[in-house]
Amino acid sequence: MMNKKLRVLIVGSGGREHAIAWKVAQSPRLAQLFVAPGNAGTESSQWSAVSGQSATVGNVSISAEDIAALVAFTNEQAIDLIIVGPEAPLAIGLADALRAAGRWVFGPSQVAAQIEASKAFSKDFMARHHIPTARFATFTEFREALKYLLSIDYPIVIKASGLAAGKGVILPNCADDAEAALRSIMLDKEFGAAGDEVIIEERLSGPEVSLLAFTDGVTLKPLPPAQDHKRIFDNDQGPNTGGMGAYAPAPICPPALVEEFTRSILQPTIDGLRAEGKPFVGVLYAGLMLTTDGPRVLEYNCRFGDPETQVILPLLETDLLDIVEACANGQLAEIEVKWRSGAAACVVMASEGYPGKYPSGREIRGLDATFDQAVVFQAGTQLSKDTVVTAGGRVLGITGFGADLREAIERAYTAVGQIEFEGRQYRKDIGYKAFSGLANGQAEKNERLQRIAARNEQTN
Ligand code: AMP
Ligand code: GLY
Repeated sequence: MMNKKLRVLIVGSGGREHAIAWKVAQSPRLAQLFVAPGNAGTESSQWSAVSGQSATVGNVSISAEDIAALVAFTNEQAIDLIIVGPEAPLAIGLADALRAAGRWVFGPSQVAAQIEASKAFSKDFMARHHIPTARFATFTEFREALKYLLSIDYPIVIKASGLAAGKGVILPNCADDAEAALRSIMLDKEFGAAGDEVIIEERLSGPEVSLLAFTDGVTLKPLPPAQDHKRIFDNDQGPNTGGMGAYAPAPICPPALVEEFTRSILQPTIDGLRAEGKPFVGVLYAGLMLTTDGPRVLEYNCRFGDPETQVILPLLETDLLDIVEACANGQLAEIEVKWRSGAAACVVMASEGYPGKYPSGREIRGLDATFDQAVVFQAGTQLSKDTVVTAGGRVLGITGFGADLREAIERAYTAVGQIEFEGRQYRKDIGYKAFSGLANGQAEKNERLQRIAARNEQTN
């Protein structure tokens, strides 16, 4: 079984899915790869031109949430293995439907995906299994929530329980803000049904790290820890986004801590889900905050992170198809997962106006440039005739590699400077948090900002 050539379908259309496709396409075991619906980067016509890899890859125009059409497609095309990128299709049961049709699926069942899709479920789950998380209370009635809010005297975070595309978490600055947030989520339904249930949670502080692991439901293999950059502007200013950049491995979480968190957090999560009859297959993602009282789980995701995947998969040495197949078949214990030394950093180039309203259809230039130790993962892009144009908020993720993080960041920004589209915006400080001590980090950052500014002046 381990040597069979595979026909593979990736579900999704973002930078994460392009990165998964890029890695899968390196497998000698790949027979054919489809991406549904994909983006311009995963179109067969672009694949060889931009990635330099032979084109056994192409898009299928089926929405990631059209379960019936995806099942029909996998039957017609005799797909061996499906990798589900985003959470939304998992939360509505795509993996269950594909498994029922006899397919191997990398991605959790609908009940296991609740670990992300319902924050109320995930908080209660953590409480049941003694997994460290912030103190919390759950409400379905606005009046009750408000009464509770007035009864506590510590800083809080308000979260819509359901999926809200990364926007359902509010950090109010004062009691009035908190009440307004509760009103808009519970009464005005700002996030629709996602706000039917609300969590009020103790506000913690500390650096954050994304710790992900492959799992077949029993065995876990952790991935290099990564750090995301959620805010739109430098110095973590401005509104939250889907993620403006990432780097890995995060020095804040050295191998000994990865081992400890795997034992104390990830493994009990997988064991707890299995014990409750919800075995979890795929990637488990724990968003951790490292507080002075120890690590706390802020959230789980039931899938690869975006843009974390764009820095993690380039560090993977083992054939991703071997791993994914082993997870889908309950054989992960038999696989040795190897990682390269060195580091990767990803800078997201976004549309003007993102995370608010943004224009689309703007021509992207420079994608066919030669990049030094960097790769461009496309996200919100599409083909307009033969031209790649913007078609989303986060447009591209440019990943640089290096022997260390400094080199990786440098190469990512050099490649960013080779790409242009009107109104492009990106953070200039991706990765600076990694450098020891805030004072050092600031000096590094200032120096880099100057270098980038000088370079951009030359190229513009
Ligand atoms: P989540 O979607 O739950 O990860 O929340 C998004 C972001 O909100 C996190 O990455 C944190 O920066 C912040 N956040 C969430 N929960 C807390 C908390 N209890 N204390 C402080 N910050 C939080
Ligand atoms: N980068 C955050 C996420 O994927 O949810």
